Amino acid sequence: MANIKRIGVLTSGGDAPGMNAAIRAVTRAGINSGMEVFGIMRGYQGMIEGDIVPMSSETVSGIIQKGGTFLLTARSQEFREPEGRKTAYEQLKRFQIDAVVIIGGDGSFTGANIMANEYDVSFIGIPGTIDNDLYGTDYTIGFDTAVNTVVDAIDKIRDTASSHNRIFFVEVMGREAGFVAIHSGIACGAEVIMIPEEKNQIEKARRFLSERARKNRSSIILVAEGIEEGSTMEVAEILKPEFPQFDMRVSILGHIQRGGSPSAKDRIIASRMGAAAVEALIDQQKSIMIGLINDEIVHVPLNKTIKMDKAIDPDLINLTEEISTYVSSELKL
Ligand code: F6P
Repeated sequence: MANIKRIGVLTSGGDAPGMNAAIRAVTRAGINSGMEVFGIMRGYQGMIEGDIVPMSSETVSGIIQKGGTFLLTARSQEFREPEGRKTAYEQLKRFQIDAVVIIGGDGSFTGANIMANEYDVSFIGIPGTIDNDLYGTDYTIGFDTAVNTVVDAIDKIRDTASSHNRIFFVEVMGREAGFVAIHSGIACGAEVIMIPEEKNQIEKARRFLSERARKNRSSIILVAEGIEEGSTMEVAEILKPEFPQFDMRVSILGHIQRGGSPSAKDRIIASRMGAAAVEALIDQQKSIMIGLINDEIVHVPLNKTIKMDKAIDPDLINLTEEISTYVSSELKL
């Protein structure tokens, strides 16, 4: 493909704090490299509908500190169909856009990869999801902010839990991934952390409750959504009758985890990745994701990051047990 002159940038899937910083970096790095940059609204849905607007350095002023995504986002059903992708391609041609930077997660990259195999468009992915579940990068944009939001919320729950000598089941996001749960659980000293990557998590909670002394002032059982035993409510309903001596409550943090002003770390990662995406396009790269490994920018083929699962560092899982108050060697499952 000849030198890229016009690029599009979009955000897709669940929004994540720091997406705006990435849009800003792509826009400014693109313009400063002599490209014309277009914002594609509402992810792939806006691509299909031709909801595409010119961007300037000023358009992205004053957004680096804002949560959400200024370009809006969507989970487009139409783009899953060949007909939808055909229309999307025609719209890109209409705007003479030959490359698109996609800021999103696994599902968004899968869509880009399928379209790249059907049409001659260069796609560069930037990992943007609070889940941090993308293979080929240590961090995804939004993860750090989400973990800090969860820690802040659990610190507050801890105050009321201690005052009443209660056990709280706290549910965090992460669909099929326990990164938010493990990181925030370590940071707020959760007594039990239940993650979808491991089996029989309810047993961990059960053993903890069996050993818990009544005099404990509070306990946090952190549950990542997507564990095999079901929702946090269901887990609590199973355990409540087994331990009638304890006063238990459930708190589901939900979408507050996706909002808020991005942390400095997320803004910096997003800025680096945004600029790296433009550099990759200048180097005629396509169908790759920009990643960050050991604080260095890397390029990962899109089809690899889609296919491979990112594993939670086993040292972190061990750490939760090593520094727990109650653990005995037989507790290791
Ligand atoms: O992928 C990001 C994420 O926030 C997951 O953690 C969560 O399971 C999902 O999105 C929720 O999606 P929605 O906002 O569409 O309900």
